[in-house]
Amino acid sequence: MTNKPAELHYDGHTIELPVTEGSENERGLDINKLRDATGLVTIDNGFMNTAATSSAVTFLDGEKGILRYRGYPIEELAEKSTFIEVSYLLIYGELPNAARLKWFENQIGKYSATKDGIKSIIKSFPKEAHPMAVLAASVVALAGFHPEYAEGDLTEAQKDEVLPQLMAQVKNIAAYQYRASHGQDLIDANPKKYDYVSDFVAQMYGKEPDVEVIKAMNILLILHADHEQNCSTSSVRLVGSSKANVYASVSAGVDALWGPLHGGANQAVIEMLQEIQADGGDYKKFILKAKNKDDNFRLMGFGHRVYKNFDPRAKIIKKACDTILEKLNVKDPLLAIAKGLEEEALKDQYFVERKLYPNVDFYSGIIYKALNIPTNMFTVMFALGRLPGWEAQWKEMVETTSTKIGRPRQIYIGSKERHFVPLSERK
Ligand code: ACO
Repeated sequence: MTNKPAELHYDGHTIELPVTEGSENERGLDINKLRDATGLVTIDNGFMNTAATSSAVTFLDGEKGILRYRGYPIEELAEKSTFIEVSYLLIYGELPNAARLKWFENQIGKYSATKDGIKSIIKSFPKEAHPMAVLAASVVALAGFHPEYAEGDLTEAQKDEVLPQLMAQVKNIAAYQYRASHGQDLIDANPKKYDYVSDFVAQMYGKEPDVEVIKAMNILLILHADHEQNCSTSSVRLVGSSKANVYASVSAGVDALWGPLHGGANQAVIEMLQEIQADGGDYKKFILKAKNKDDNFRLMGFGHRVYKNFDPRAKIIKKACDTILEKLNVKDPLLAIAKGLEEEALKDQYFVERKLYPNVDFYSGIIYKALNIPTNMFTVMFALGRLPGWEAQWKEMVETTSTKIGRPRQIYIGSKERHFVPLSERK
């Protein structure tokens, strides 16, 4: 269906702005000709209204709480699929058949040896270095060790190598970092013996992976695998739009994810719950703090730019949290604090009015903690999960011939022209 164009009246002129429509009937005002026709730019703080691209990877409807990867509901994928299958789905657009899945796993296995130089970089960090710093630095360092994928446009065959290679390398780096920070020897990948997720667990802990742990980790990684044009994915696309290589683009995604308003929230949630516990467990006091506009404190793991009803990932994680803790026989008092906090916030007018609900990070940390993953590594787990999404979005971008370098405009509010004063004459 063609939509009626919108009309913009400005300064005595009228221009027509086309309205485009996506496959789920989302409509967008196309302002590509706006500046040429009117001299105006648009101002959109935090890109609240801006669709930076068209994309076929992920659909989400924040009002209805819907999230689908390539059309498949997140609930079905979390229940029935595996992380590796979902990664293939995101990157290549379809669920793999048995032969394609084998091919993908083989590719990951084939490119899973990590160069000694990268291992040395990881070992050279101080033990207390934040794992996200190690991850971002090591991912971009891969470009220096693999110039064959770091220069110029990649062929189809090269993309089929470098994308599985990055999955293998990020997994290794995350596990190596954990071991190096604990003063332990690094354990290399063993793709002949283990599937992707089990291999990661074996590399991290140096023992046979537990079935329940692997199940839990698959669910968490699937739920984090993509989330359309969020802060980190937009960073991957923006950096990649300059034709910077895929390692640099993904490393930028890691950096953006680190922030506590984005992926770093999972670490912040546990720290907040521990703070509440240390303070005697009175979560109502912290709700008051979150509502106080003179206090910078926010309820971490609450609120989302897009979800204004509920975050479907949070629903799945909350349920999984109960099941996993029970199966692993873990009793964590933080879970009771989290549930109390959620219950209290959901009936509080401040949170109701602003449509603030628990997001994916609210309960994920409790599961990571039950899996014995150190708190400062939670965001690395998020990055491991988000990697196939970044790769899928990067691939879609480089394969779209109309992609332009990302370069927003601004409204300048600084000094008018003035002239240089030599140092000796400056006050
Ligand atoms: N606690 C208390 N108040 C909040 C919270 C919160 N967690 N989140 C939003 N608000 C309030 C704001 O103060 C604002 O109130 P106001 O209208 O009175 O000024 C209103 O709700 C709207 O908030 P914004 O910050 O404008 O919403 P935005 O869409 O820009 O931010 C964000 C979304 C960053 C997720 C925010 O809700 C937040 O900071 N949450 C806590 C951090 C977090 O959990 N991040 C993870 C998000 S999920 C992910 O990235 C994986």
